[in-house]
Amino acid sequence: PPRGGGGARAPGGCPPPRHLAHPPEPDDVRRALREHPDAKGMLLITPTDWGTCADIAGVARVCHEYDVPLIVDEAWGAHLPFHPALPPWGMDAEADLVVTSVHKMGGAIEQSSVFHLQYDRVSPEVLAQREDLLGTTSASSLVYATLDGWRRQMVEQGHDLLDAALRRAERIRAAAADMPGLRPMGREVVDAGLAASFDPLKIVIDVRELGVSGMQATEWVRDHCHVDLGGSDTCRISASVTHADDDHTEEVLLGALRALVEGAGSIERRPSVRLPEPPVLELEQAMSPRAAFFAEVEHVPAERAAGRVCAETISPYPPGVPVIAPGEVITDEVLDYLRSGAEHGVLIPDAADSSLRTLRVVRTVS
Ligand SMILES: Cc1ncc(COP(=O)(O)O)c(C=O)c1O
Repeated sequence: PPRGGGGARAPGGCPPPRHLAHPPEPDDVRRALREHPDAKGMLLITPTDWGTCADIAGVARVCHEYDVPLIVDEAWGAHLPFHPALPPWGMDAEADLVVTSVHKMGGAIEQSSVFHLQYDRVSPEVLAQREDLLGTTSASSLVYATLDGWRRQMVEQGHDLLDAALRRAERIRAAAADMPGLRPMGREVVDAGLAASFDPLKIVIDVRELGVSGMQATEWVRDHCHVDLGGSDTCRISASVTHADDDHTEEVLLGALRALVEGAGSIERRPSVRLPEPPVLELEQAMSPRAAFFAEVEHVPAERAAGRVCAETISPYPPGVPVIAPGEVITDEVLDYLRSGAEHGVLIPDAADSSLRTLRVVRTVS
């Protein structure tokens, strides 16, 4: 479940809520498995897009008590096995299956995702069959070559390269903290008990004090500094430091942040996104996603969509995390959030009507 809040304290004021979801804790997983005894497994996303990490070993223990496999979506964790100062990776923390996008924090080309399997809760034969169903028959030698190159580089030089990247990330975080209006996230999320650990190579910076959203900051930096940041949402921007960064890229990033602070006053003020309290995002599941996706559907005006079962995935992008999934019951509160986002300029690329004037819902029998 999303757990927001816990923001750094504003000078003389209350901590602004972060509106950030962290990975679930072992007790959350135990509660969910108790409530759903027919669950076939647990899918854990860690690190999140914003670099906060789960207690994977704790979650694995709970899953194994209930005899279900733990699958870790470690898309953002390709580097984790190669330095002891980084959070533990799934295979060391007793996950059954770990899926990693080596093109994200590693050095392989796009589409270089791999999985690692251990123990006997997931059959290698079943896994190979499923992969065969979805994978291409035309494997790319570029993918294999870059994967192998990355593996070798990490084995031979990974520790030293990541050591340098960790020092660089700390320097960047400290420099950003000294810039007015920028609030980088740090270890306080772990100290406050919101996450088990965090990846210091993710530089996540709240920009709301500049009077703009993270999306506007990202667009401005791209247009004015020709720098593409790694991610953004309503509240923040993020940049990943990797083994491949050097003094020049560090200075390019810091220069772009300085320019943003100086130029923020010139960015057009847009209607703000009405961010909901976390429980608002926990929608009732009325049908399975599959049943809703393949059901007879109709398109209804947003004003009449509350109470209807959604038949599409609606994910504001960035960061691309679904707010409504097929089978969930639409509410006024969640519509208010999504439509204020669309008015602010948030992209909602997967909805049939990305302006959200209408929604695709399961047809009701009259
Ligand atoms: C948490 C998470 N899982 C999976 C993916 C998709 O991974 P891939 O690029 O390997 O398809 C992403 C992509 O951004 C992601 O953020």
